[in-house]
Amino acid sequence: MTGANDTPYLLRAARGEILDRPPVWMMRQAGRYMKVYRDLRDKYPSFRERSENPDLAIEISLQPWRAFQPDGVIMFSDILTPLPGMGIPFDIVESKGPVIDPPIRTQEQVDNLRPLNPEESLPFIKTILQTLRQEVGNQSTVLGFVGSPWTLAAYAIEGKSSKNYAIIKSMAFSQPQILHKFLSKIADAIAVYVRYQIDCGAQVVQLFDSWAGQLSPQDYETFALPYQQQVVRQVKETHPDTPLILYISGSAGVLERMGQSGVDIVSVDWTVDMAEARRRLGREMKVQGNIDPGVLFGSQDFIKARILDTVRKAGRGGHILNLGHGVLVGTPEDNVRCFFETAKQVDQLLAVPV
Ligand code: CP3
Repeated sequence: MTGANDTPYLLRAARGEILDRPPVWMMRQAGRYMKVYRDLRDKYPSFRERSENPDLAIEISLQPWRAFQPDGVIMFSDILTPLPGMGIPFDIVESKGPVIDPPIRTQEQVDNLRPLNPEESLPFIKTILQTLRQEVGNQSTVLGFVGSPWTLAAYAIEGKSSKNYAIIKSMAFSQPQILHKFLSKIADAIAVYVRYQIDCGAQVVQLFDSWAGQLSPQDYETFALPYQQQVVRQVKETHPDTPLILYISGSAGVLERMGQSGVDIVSVDWTVDMAEARRRLGREMKVQGNIDPGVLFGSQDFIKARILDTVRKAGRGGHILNLGHGVLVGTPEDNVRCFFETAKQVDQLLAVPV
């Protein structure tokens, strides 16, 4: 539904065009809430295989595309995927999540990390992104993504998902020089990886700094923001026209600071009212979001009402409709379909007085 214009909707909105409705996609739109994904997971139980075997990763990325025709097709991968190429192996263990063993705790380990060479360690990414571009043509926009340094460091140092981030914070507040060195090395590697994704076909790239919302604003300015900026600056030097999105979970306390990262679009979670987010970020900053993923457990009328409310609050232009975080396991697929169908009719629905 791109009309006479060959550029897909999401890319046009990301570049600042005013459209008749916001483009729509969902974080974590490929994954366990879909039966076709669970069936494939039963056959291929290893997450690393599902995400690093191009045939499987392409198939999984296209599952939500075939089912719901979102305006964005995000490659199936993980924020941890580039770490082995730097010398940090990981695994994703069912019902436990990511595991990094041994975790990074010492200066020596940081010194021994390798710079990332994506052609060598991530060749499958090229096949995945190139094929996705061919498959969706100009009907949708292909998104790449990366983890931002603070969040990747959190996994590498904690060794797994954490509730309170005690280990990385203890390093931050007692041996900051080790952490800064590590964050800077990750930032350089991630910048190289973003450029590679763009060269392979990613049209928009989202940076996930999911756990940066765990930092106080003052520590965000020390440990998260400078390394987001380091990534963005390096990418913009060579690829100034590719829109970049930044997402943080629980970002209400640092929203204005997210705008200082240099990205084009701030992905807002649901703890912030969308109208307030727009006021706080200024009309120049584009926004994405921000419906609570839990809303998809409500009735379809409720889902529709929340979509209309969010689109009204975001106002015309500069808005990509999305959830405020990833779609949750157990979400009814029919409700995901309702979300996408409503989003695509939003211009007609908003024209009808309520
Ligand atoms: O959006 C998409 O459809 C692309 C898929 C995607 C995955 N991971 C696949 C995945 C994306 C965008 C990610 C990013 C990611 N990975 C983030 C940032 C987004 C966020 O949620 O804040 C983070 C923090 C990770 C680290 C990670 N990997 C976690 C927390 C988990 C879940 C652990 C669990 O078991 O609940 C993973 C594993 C993972 N990555 C799964 C998927 C679909 C689930 C494992 C599986 O399907 O077997």
